[in-house]
Amino acid sequence: MCGIVGHVGPKNSVEVVIEGLKRLEYRGYDSAGVSFINQKDELEVFKKEGKLQNLIDLLGTKKYISRSCIGHTRWATHGEVNDVNSHPHSANPISVVQNGIIENFATLKQELEGGGYKFESQTDTEVFLALIVTTMNSGKTFFEAVSSSFQRIDGNSAFVILNGDSGEILAIKRGAPLVCGTHDTHSQALVSSDPYALAGVVDRLYFPEDNVLISISGANKELIRFYELDGTPDCKRYLSKKQEMTLETSEKGKYEHFMLKEIYEQPGLVRALTQYYFTGDGVKHLEAVASLKPERVHVAACGTAHYAGMVVKDYIERINAIPCEVEFASEFRYRDPLLAKKDLGLFISQSGETADTLAAQELCQKKQLHTLSLVNVEGSTLFRNCDSNLLIRAGVEIGVASTKAFTQMALTGRLLAGSMAGQFKTDEGKKSVADKFSLLSERIDQLLARVGEIKDIAERIYQRNGFFFTGRGQYFSVALEGALKLKEIAYVHAEGYASGELKHGPIALIDDDMVNIAIVGPELYEKTVSNLQEIKARRGVIVTLGPAGDKILEEMSDYYIALDFSGLEELAPLYVNVANQLLAYYTAKFKGTDIDKPRNLAKSVTVE
Ligand code: F6R
Repeated sequence: MCGIVGHVGPKNSVEVVIEGLKRLEYRGYDSAGVSFINQKDELEVFKKEGKLQNLIDLLGTKKYISRSCIGHTRWATHGEVNDVNSHPHSANPISVVQNGIIENFATLKQELEGGGYKFESQTDTEVFLALIVTTMNSGKTFFEAVSSSFQRIDGNSAFVILNGDSGEILAIKRGAPLVCGTHDTHSQALVSSDPYALAGVVDRLYFPEDNVLISISGANKELIRFYELDGTPDCKRYLSKKQEMTLETSEKGKYEHFMLKEIYEQPGLVRALTQYYFTGDGVKHLEAVASLKPERVHVAACGTAHYAGMVVKDYIERINAIPCEVEFASEFRYRDPLLAKKDLGLFISQSGETADTLAAQELCQKKQLHTLSLVNVEGSTLFRNCDSNLLIRAGVEIGVASTKAFTQMALTGRLLAGSMAGQFKTDEGKKSVADKFSLLSERIDQLLARVGEIKDIAERIYQRNGFFFTGRGQYFSVALEGALKLKEIAYVHAEGYASGELKHGPIALIDDDMVNIAIVGPELYEKTVSNLQEIKARRGVIVTLGPAGDKILEEMSDYYIALDFSGLEELAPLYVNVANQLLAYYTAKFKGTDIDKPRNLAKSVTVE
């Protein structure tokens, strides 16, 4: 969701914050803003609806210099997208940015209005600002006002608050991501909603727990100080870790979009995953999960991670013969699911900050299940909250539409299943899986080399009315994921269906303007082909992702993407999925959408 950056230090804070916001634009891009103390010691605020570039244009060529600045990229929750509702919200000398939702904002707003406070925006954030300002007006210090105001609000949020009088920045969170960092030699400190904003700028990261008040001021030579809400200093409730993310990993390089770059990274990442878990630092983590002997597995995740969870379910049920359920975390958390202590709670997430997934993990923890994550961001809230973790090792994923994370989630799930089944006790066991991963990586490479074919097909179908992705058995999950990818970035109506389900209703929609992207693997071949005949008979446009050399299928299809399934077995869905990723990418490109920042979306969904 929203991106937050705050900076204090001798470098020009405005530049540092804008640079950080550029990296966080993938978290929200409805509007952006900054506030800072200028050289005359006045609080200045600039904010603008739309992409970050609009804010940069507003700042213009004048060089603003500051030693203390906060900034925000917004993904709107309360209040429409406009300049007024953009963050920061300010009432001299206080300025606030928020990521999250204040659930009791309406009651608090009424109370504050009753006391004469005049609101400018429709946001819940301004309620927090008003609480701080009115508390300070009653004689409390900045620290006391932030602490007491924070204790009055309900809901999950992270706030960063600038005091224009002192230059001090306070930050605090509950159930929302927040990270801060320092650079000793540059004596600067930053706070952000995302460690990615801090890459290359700080050398140490601190992940505070909920309700820890962080002061960033550079006073007393200590750049960052941590307090309990009652003001007790030297609070130690945070995780500290060396900053390892480098900036090179977060550049687009020769690719037009991050999404394309991330699709192309997959072969290398797939190979590196077995190296990490079979010979590298991951060995101990994979060994640690080998002792898990759950009676059932409950997978909770959202979006693409949920579909990866469906692939993992197949692995666990097939390899471990353990029942495994996969649910949308947003449903799981409110459904009162049947959970037993001997079950395993498995949570899959790229960001490790998805609010619903975190709530599902909390629920399982309360019910005393062992909780395990398959997660990309080390140090994220999910990573910290779970009993054990397997990193998916996808590297930084910037494209809002998740691609490489899906593949890595599913493969890490395959390693989990193998480890629980004792497959990796011997070198032969490891080798057989490593060889299969290596074959997958080779096949993806070969597919990427044929990108022109997929691009041509996208050019022919991008103007069609609707898209059905169909697949049977292990290909059903990637039919769902393929449809999600296409609708997210190309803004077309797309649905994923189990091939056999089409005739139970959706087939009513088939006409010559409807495209069926049919995934036909070697398994259940005849049955899937019969389903295709049904589409053909109704003049639907058929794009088949099917076995190479299958003349019958090729003739039946309007467009054919020939795939080499041999030897891939349970990894085949991940291979097919790359073709779907490319198809979505090029369809979106022909439609001219903003591929890396599709409308209405945000990379990390930290609100319910
Ligand atoms: C789809 C997409 C989203 C995420 C979902 C979960 O391309 O990016 O559907 O997969 O919001 O996010 P994480 O994996 O961060 O929990």
